[in-house]
Amino acid sequence: MTASQRTLVLLKPDAVERRLVGEIVSRYEAKGLRIVALELRTADVATAQAHYAEHVGRDYYPGLEQFVTSGPLVSLVLEGECAIEAVRSLHGITDSAVAAPGTIRGDFSLFTNRNLVHASDAPESAEREIAIWFPNL
Ligand code: CDP
Ligand code: MG
Repeated sequence: MTASQRTLVLLKPDAVERRLVGEIVSRYEAKGLRIVALELRTADVATAQAHYAEHVGRDYYPGLEQFVTSGPLVSLVLEGECAIEAVRSLHGITDSAVAAPGTIRGDFSLFTNRNLVHASDAPESAEREIAIWFPNL
């Protein structure tokens, strides 16, 4: 019995700017996840608002919107056994300063507002986010 899932991942503009795309994607592949879709693009404000709908209105949201639309990012859909939890485990916790060594945030990020990666946190959010970034999937 398998529980194959899909999850939506963003390698945010800091990951592209810092030339960390290869390093990060290699970790997903090493884990055994399959790339279903992948695109380099610059997000517009409407896409950022849709993606981060639950965060609009938070004190950090204006900075988050500015950051995530500031340059090219990589959007991906990854698939595999328990992909949602697996990817969030590879990423580490939101607070970069204390994210565990060995995780992407733990190894490469010191600041929560420059934390390199996004991943869906539940099956419902994965479905919603995949529809935003890859409507034809
Ligand atoms: O990305 P994750 O699901 O781990 O965290 P979140 O709580 O859903 O927050 C979404 C994103 O908002 C974070 O990844 C950060 O980029 C940003 N954020 C921030 O800049 N400052 C905070 N205090 C909290 C979140
Ligand atoms: Mg989140």
